[in-house]
Amino acid sequence: MTTKPVRKAVLPAGGNSTRFLPATKAQPKAMLPLVDRPAIQYVVEEAVAAGITDILVVTGRVTRAVADHFDRAPELERELEEGGKLESLEHVRSIADLARLHYVRQGQALGLGHAVSVARAFVGDEPFAVLLPDELMVDDAALMKTMIAAHGEHGGSVVAFREVAKEDVGAYGVADVEPEPVAHALLRLKGIVEKPDPADAPSNLIATGRYVFSPTIFECLERVAPGKAGEIQLTDAISLLIEREPVYAAVFEKGRFDVGTPLDFLEAAVALAADRPDIGPAFRAFLSAFVKENGL
Ligand code: G1P
Repeated sequence: MTTKPVRKAVLPAGGNSTRFLPATKAQPKAMLPLVDRPAIQYVVEEAVAAGITDILVVTGRVTRAVADHFDRAPELERELEEGGKLESLEHVRSIADLARLHYVRQGQALGLGHAVSVARAFVGDEPFAVLLPDELMVDDAALMKTMIAAHGEHGGSVVAFREVAKEDVGAYGVADVEPEPVAHALLRLKGIVEKPDPADAPSNLIATGRYVFSPTIFECLERVAPGKAGEIQLTDAISLLIEREPVYAAVFEKGRFDVGTPLDFLEAAVALAADRPDIGPAFRAFLSAFVKENGL
């Protein structure tokens, strides 16, 4: 199958983060730090590791911090250099060199489908990736790479899913899949339902914020009317896409955190800190002492 390479990614970061107020009153939740870097930096690094060179951040009401974070910071760099803080200097500089970052305002937060639709001019007629910056793939950063490879081999579009307990599916897009896999951990998607009642859900495979789309998704988004919660749902556009082109479900197993809620955010921060070569050993010692002292 000859497909164009996937070089562009869209990161919708414009949603209203009401579950994280007041921390998100003046900054987007994508800028909340986990250990020493904002959530969105992990996602940009993941995209770059998958071969992405151009990233469009779809921004909302509070945006400046994201653009400043990925820009050069000459004054700060000079201070660090003069102070001999070369490791920090290296890190700060490397952020600006990660990828070409582009920004577009969503205008109104009309839903995830709407956020993706504003990327049309940036994407043009190429396949592209979508990564939701409030989903971190801590142990499975290779997932996006695998999805892009699946697109290269089979064409069409690829959506990432993870299996959860049936009672937990109601907050997500849920897959209806063909039983026979097309390849390892790759199934043909027959349908997708946004936030179903668990009793009516077609499976317990939930969409987890990683997508590779053919540009046909934009035509489908154009035809979508407001759906669940009155929003333009990406899921509804995927349902239309399935009628026109193959869409695959890439099923993965571990290491995903939804950092859009305070509890999951804390779990992600703990997992990331415990895994860090520099502070990990001391942090793990603190955790086990904390568990013992508090009888957890
Ligand atoms: C969005 C999508 C949903 C997906 C989820 C992943 O929902 O609409 O299909 O499963 O992201 O986090 P949201 O979390 O924006 O309500």
